[in-house]
Amino acid sequence: MNKKKEFIPALGYDWLTGFYDLTIRLTMPEKKFRTKLIDEVEPQNDETILEFGYGTGQNIILAHERNNKTKLNGLDIDPKVKEIAEYKIKKLGFGITLDLYEGATFPYPDNSFDKVFSSLVFHQLDAETKLPCLKEIYRVLKPNGNLIIGDWGKAKSKLMRFLFYIVQILDGFKTTNDNVNGLLPKFMEQAGFKNVAEKDFINTRIGTYSYYRAIK
Ligand SMILES: C[S@@+](CC[C@H](N)C(=O)[O-])C[C@H]1O[C@@H](n2cnc3c(N)ncnc32)[C@H](O)[C@@H]1O
Repeated sequence: MNKKKEFIPALGYDWLTGFYDLTIRLTMPEKKFRTKLIDEVEPQNDETILEFGYGTGQNIILAHERNNKTKLNGLDIDPKVKEIAEYKIKKLGFGITLDLYEGATFPYPDNSFDKVFSSLVFHQLDAETKLPCLKEIYRVLKPNGNLIIGDWGKAKSKLMRFLFYIVQILDGFKTTNDNVNGLLPKFMEQAGFKNVAEKDFINTRIGTYSYYRAIK
């Protein structure tokens, strides 16, 4: 493996990762935003689907529960979250493959997946990392494959903008400013995606969570 790229852990600091699930449960409408994400992904029988940045496994588990005939892969950079997600998945007896990578090249050949989805990851990537990651997603998607991203988007009210400062203090302003400025779709287009659109959003206690879609 090459030298690992620096990354922001799930809750901003490595020692907080064990509290991630509890924090999300307390600060977000968890069932609502994750269910809606999987509604957007719509896992079908025999489809190959990748979750980029699976974290503690909450979305990928939900995707498997929605359709256990979908072939699910997860990719993350942090061994600590892999351990947490793997523990849950093993306990449930689900057949989901979780991979790690060093932060540059995804460990999959070109045109591997029908769909790639991702939630709450891009606001943790700086501009120099967002675009290469989107290009890797583009590379591993099959032609006409779908990208679904759920992440912090342009605040839909002054209150949402104010509340989002909580996330920015934890995760830093450098990586989160692009999100709150509504620039994620621009990055997706720059990576080569077409039909890029913000499909929907949910206002939460800590900001506006938006759903984006695009096609390779
Ligand atoms: C806030 S957590 C989101 C976890 C999960 N997707 C969710 O919806 O709860 C962000 C995740 O992105 C991962 N991450 C950060 N930088 C990354 C990178 N460069 N490549 C892949 N994953 C990354 C972190 O390890 C963490 O698991």
